[in-house]
Amino acid sequence: MVNKATKPTDNLIGRDAWNIQLDNNGHLKHFLTTEGLGTDILTQILDTAESFADINEKSVKKVPLLRGKTIVNLFFEASTRTRTTFELAAKRLSADVLNINISTSATSKGETLLDTLQNIQAMHCDMFVVRHSDSGAAHYIANNVAPNISVINAGDGSHAHPTQAMLDMFTIRRNKGANFGNLRVAIVGDILHSRVARSQIHALNNLNTGEVRVIAPKTLLPVDIENMGVNVFHDLHTGIKNADVVIMLRLQKERMQGALLPSEQEYFKLYGLTEEKLQAAKSDVIVMHPGPINRGVEIDSTVADGKHSVILDQVSYGIAVRMAVMTMTLGREKVAGDNTGDNK
Ligand code: CP
Repeated sequence: MVNKATKPTDNLIGRDAWNIQLDNNGHLKHFLTTEGLGTDILTQILDTAESFADINEKSVKKVPLLRGKTIVNLFFEASTRTRTTFELAAKRLSADVLNINISTSATSKGETLLDTLQNIQAMHCDMFVVRHSDSGAAHYIANNVAPNISVINAGDGSHAHPTQAMLDMFTIRRNKGANFGNLRVAIVGDILHSRVARSQIHALNNLNTGEVRVIAPKTLLPVDIENMGVNVFHDLHTGIKNADVVIMLRLQKERMQGALLPSEQEYFKLYGLTEEKLQAAKSDVIVMHPGPINRGVEIDSTVADGKHSVILDQVSYGIAVRMAVMTMTLGREKVAGDNTGDNK
């Protein structure tokens, strides 16, 4: 079920956008959203990432799987974790990487997105990794690039951030095992503006998670959130009770229109995660956050840096998961478990 609040506008993505991620053989061509992707593809991403996580632990962290391929990072919006881990992932796969600095590109002189794309495409590249503040931008690009180019959505507006969701699934699987059916996962905070939450919810449900909960004040929840297959709570204690995984989200003040909250102090009092409040969850709970974290707003430092936190592991696993998605889309003949390559 597509959440109306998150569905990119038809004029941006076109009617068939939800079907364009897979090629005629059912392999991943673009990675734009976790919505509509089956357990098989999502599990393949996780399995493929496992072998890359091992490579990332080695002293020589490079394999030749994408040698000769050119990957273009097109970030129209700020990023620390996503842009750098995509760049590292591409380099570890031996691809050539081009980082387009949008603030110094011709886009700032009025060139349209399509014209920018067509010019970069003329340089014979193989993949665009796109972050954009408009929901639907990655779909729009995927619908307008040459057929040989793969597009990865690195976050579009409040719509989707699929590689973040998959690195989160990878982190959960590494800590809690492969059976998501046993798990209760609680997502806390600004769900309304969060592309991460939407992609996580789709991924968790498509991996058959036992229970997915969202916890937020009414003003920070989309009106039809229940249609996404989650249980809704407005009280933090009740919402994280017996949770195996608690995912905290940042207040996205840059996307808020009008006063949705009384104050950050009041928000922290009600929804900020402290060690004391975390006692309601299971004793072996893991605490996650996609970053950037706002200490003292949605999470206390004692939790962010505490024994239950896996926040920095999420960042590390992001490289392996992005390597997996890149090889699955660009080297579609490759299969999970065949990723060590000629490591010389
Ligand atoms: N999680 C995430 O998308 O972080 P960045 O904005 O730093 O890329």
